[in-house]
Amino acid sequence: MCGIVGYLGFRNAEPIIIKGLRRLEYRGYDSSGIATVANGGLQVVKCQGKVQDLVDKIDGSLAESGIGIGHTRWATHGVPNDVNAHPHVSASGKLVLIHNGIIENYASIKEALQSRGVEFKSDTDTEVLVNLIDDIRTVEGVNLAKAVRMALNQVIGAYAICVYEIDNPTKIVVAKKGSPLVVGIGENEFFIASDATPFLEYTKTAIYLEDDEMAVVELGEEVKVRSIPNNKAINPYVHQLQMDIEAIEKGGYDHFMLKEIYEQPKSLRDALRGRLLADQGIIKMSGIFEYREKLVNADRILIIGCGTSWHAGLVAEYLFEDLARIPVEVEYASEFRYRNPVITEKDVVIAISQSGETADTLAAIKLAKERGATIFGVCNVVGSSIARESDAGAYTHAGPEIGVASTKAFTTQVAVLSLMAIQIAYEKGLLKESYYYQLLAELDAVPDKIEKMLESDSKAKYISSLFKDAPNFLYLGRGFNFPVALEGALKLKEISYIHAEGYPAAEMKHGPIALIDENMPVVVIAPKSGQYEKIVSNIQEVKARNGKVIAVVSKGDKEIAAMADHVIEIEESMEVFSPLLTTIPLQLLSYHIAVMRECNVDQPRNLAKSVTVE
Ligand code: G6P
Repeated sequence: MCGIVGYLGFRNAEPIIIKGLRRLEYRGYDSSGIATVANGGLQVVKCQGKVQDLVDKIDGSLAESGIGIGHTRWATHGVPNDVNAHPHVSASGKLVLIHNGIIENYASIKEALQSRGVEFKSDTDTEVLVNLIDDIRTVEGVNLAKAVRMALNQVIGAYAICVYEIDNPTKIVVAKKGSPLVVGIGENEFFIASDATPFLEYTKTAIYLEDDEMAVVELGEEVKVRSIPNNKAINPYVHQLQMDIEAIEKGGYDHFMLKEIYEQPKSLRDALRGRLLADQGIIKMSGIFEYREKLVNADRILIIGCGTSWHAGLVAEYLFEDLARIPVEVEYASEFRYRNPVITEKDVVIAISQSGETADTLAAIKLAKERGATIFGVCNVVGSSIARESDAGAYTHAGPEIGVASTKAFTTQVAVLSLMAIQIAYEKGLLKESYYYQLLAELDAVPDKIEKMLESDSKAKYISSLFKDAPNFLYLGRGFNFPVALEGALKLKEISYIHAEGYPAAEMKHGPIALIDENMPVVVIAPKSGQYEKIVSNIQEVKARNGKVIAVVSKGDKEIAAMADHVIEIEESMEVFSPLLTTIPLQLLSYHIAVMRECNVDQPRNLAKSVTVE
């Protein structure tokens, strides 16, 4: 993970780097640092903690500089402290470098360098890399770009790096393998970052480096891209970015997470726009349907993801099995890739990922592809690695999601997967015309229903105030809403640090029921559609043990209202789409509890949004 940002040009680098780091802080926030050059000398400030801690430490001490690199860290090698923070300077004091990724063979390289007298200050793999480059540069007498290329050919692991020579502050060398890196091209200035958000207000022209590529970014020159393994010159594709600056600002909300919860009606409309033509009875997904035969004839579908995306995959399992009658297996990417899975050419793999960069998901689809499977990507970030690695796919169009806890990414993933399942079912002749039309109309109505539900969050806020100090929560759901129970529990854990477990409601009696007493809040997802009577019985079981029931129910439900301690009403929908609605109050509940517990909602401890390490 980690966020990297660099600037080379005519402006003062420091404010650009600092603003960029704030925008990339979602990638990790254990420590941060900056390195610029003024009057021929290096200025490095770094410290443990957030970017604000770095700003406090700098305290106006940096002289203006036209070159700078900055880093915000999610610790892998070495605890988060000032010394392990990036940038790292080589022992000779000649090179400075930032890195996102992991150098797996750093220990043997470090030993070799130490035996030649190189002294290390930190425990990081990154300090090893900067010294390796510097060593090659001096011993072989080659220029920086060549030294970087030679060093990276010795390295095993993943990286996005920026490095420059302190004595030659007109050039930055960057390279990528496994971690993202984009170069923004302005007029006589360049920006480098993990994603484009740090430089959107300066330029929308950008080059996304591919794996195994490096580039020399030099004042007065075009960006020169080369292949790391064979040094071949590469003509890069120059993108014109569509993203707006407003999309990455809080827009009056206290937190990004709250903004993103409230954006869901819009992001769902964007996900469905041009694809769902309900009144004409048409679903259009050109990216996916190029490969429709594969999906229609699939013997099984494997769905791969991590975290919240894995939960969206579980909802999709219910959708594809119920509607399209295709067996589905949902796998954690990290388990799938290491257990020698049986994959054949007939398999269809759907990879779900908000960032499109999750290392395990990316490695899993590479493995499945090697074994002949067809890969569909359901990603949010356009041009991301998983999107590029997939044979076909559909973007979720949720817009930038900055809060570390995923909200709108989840609902848009479920919406896109719903479209796929409905269309495949229809093409297989499994849906009666009238049911097909009903499905389309109901899905089309979901954004309006969510908008209505978001008109007031006072109930979720009130319930949060009652239970904010509970040490544990249980979340129960059945059928399509079992994955929502898992997602609700994950949201609460992530941002409020309250232990929470999601369970299939009926499974409760095989264990978790032992935990229930008058102190245990139990959130039960119980819309009218689905196995309503069964879940009513499960609520009775909780009440019989004095548990406190918070039920998410369909509007006007009197039966559960009479037995639950608290209810939050949602709009009625067909069972297949209920996860899109039932998720919303659970997001709000965890948000308000986290705020009331004074937790850092957008940047919860130990987490990062984009997990580019395995
Ligand atoms: C991290 C994030 C989660 C996300 C998961 C998978 O753990 O904190 O919110 O669900 O990664 O990320 P992806 O980008 O692949 O959906």
